[in-house]
Amino acid sequence: MRAAPTGVLHHVEIYVSELERSVEFWGWLLDALGYSTYQQWSTGHSWLRESTYVVLVQAEKDHLAAGYHRKRVGLNHVAFHAASSDFVDALTAALRARGHEVLYDDRHPHAGGDDFYGVFFEDPDRIKIEVAAPSERTTDKRPTLTSERLVLRPFGLADASEVQRLAGDRRVAATTLHIPHPYPDGAAELWIGGHVDSFALGCDLTLAVTRDGALVGAVAGSLDPAAKIAIIGYWIAVEQWGKGYATEACRRLVDYLFHERDIERVCAEVFAPNLASARVLEKIGMQEEGRFRSHIVKWGERLDARHFGLLRGDWHTD
Ligand SMILES: CC(C)(COP(=O)(O)OP(=O)(O)OC[C@H]1O[C@@H](n2cnc3c(N)ncnc32)[C@H](O)[C@@H]1OP(=O)(O)O)[C@@H](O)C(=O)NCCC(=O)NCCS
Repeated sequence: MRAAPTGVLHHVEIYVSELERSVEFWGWLLDALGYSTYQQWSTGHSWLRESTYVVLVQAEKDHLAAGYHRKRVGLNHVAFHAASSDFVDALTAALRARGHEVLYDDRHPHAGGDDFYGVFFEDPDRIKIEVAAPSERTTDKRPTLTSERLVLRPFGLADASEVQRLAGDRRVAATTLHIPHPYPDGAAELWIGGHVDSFALGCDLTLAVTRDGALVGAVAGSLDPAAKIAIIGYWIAVEQWGKGYATEACRRLVDYLFHERDIERVCAEVFAPNLASARVLEKIGMQEEGRFRSHIVKWGERLDARHFGLLRGDWHTD
């Protein structure tokens, strides 16, 4: 754990009535808030983010009867920062998708006052949790790109159920590193909710690939502006495979990266057995630069990774 300035919260420790149920809930929430599991033992679990951690401990049987009530003397609620109101919106949608109630729903997202933008909800023991954004809204400057047949536009929360359906296909998850399977309720909302902030920070651009208004996939560029390097990733809905959509969308994204983002090098990593993906990269003119043996672990299997690259000087769109 990192050292921190005097006064920064070290940790919060919460005794819970049913550890397993609370770990499931808090684990999901804290993961969404950028925490990772820190310690785990038979009667407790903790999650760390930078220098602050949250601990849940199973309350002993003798002390369960009194229960918890936030209006009694003691802790009333726990509040976390959200980077933006977009994250609050995404978290709210994710909570609803998972069947959790939003408190003060009639006044949401201003339940804390006119200048407040946040969401209140409860943990399984009814401890109140608040996640609040700064008052200034992040300006959304994500671009929309067009190509012959496709429109590459920013994702919105309205796309979440379709993302869950399409990316939730095992065949899409099988050849990607970060798509979960099964695709949990609420995960698409949180994924989409992070896009505005990561674009504003200059590190990522993720766009929905659409054809005649229908979602057919996603493309993304993960940027290192200092090195002027972008790593691209993409998936296309299984029902749309083989129509050239990945090739067309990647070509448009790469063109944008070279011409509008001052990127010098675009690269991509492909699981070695993923011949369709390698073919997409070849078709847009990327060169295979190397093979990293046994570099990827996917669902317990070790796989080789093929690395592709393209320099701005070699880029031509004809
Ligand atoms: C990889 C993926 C994006 C391709 O999408 P797509 O829209 O079908 O791709 P395209 O139609 O533009 O091009 C596919 C190319 O691969 C070829 N191809 C497909 N299956 C192949 C295979 N098993 N072996 C060799 N080539 C294959 C196609 O014939 C086509 O090439 P061609 O135009 O020369 O005939 C899609 O399969 C997918 O989403 N897979 C799951 C997620 C994923 O793997 N993402 C990439 C992570 S690096």
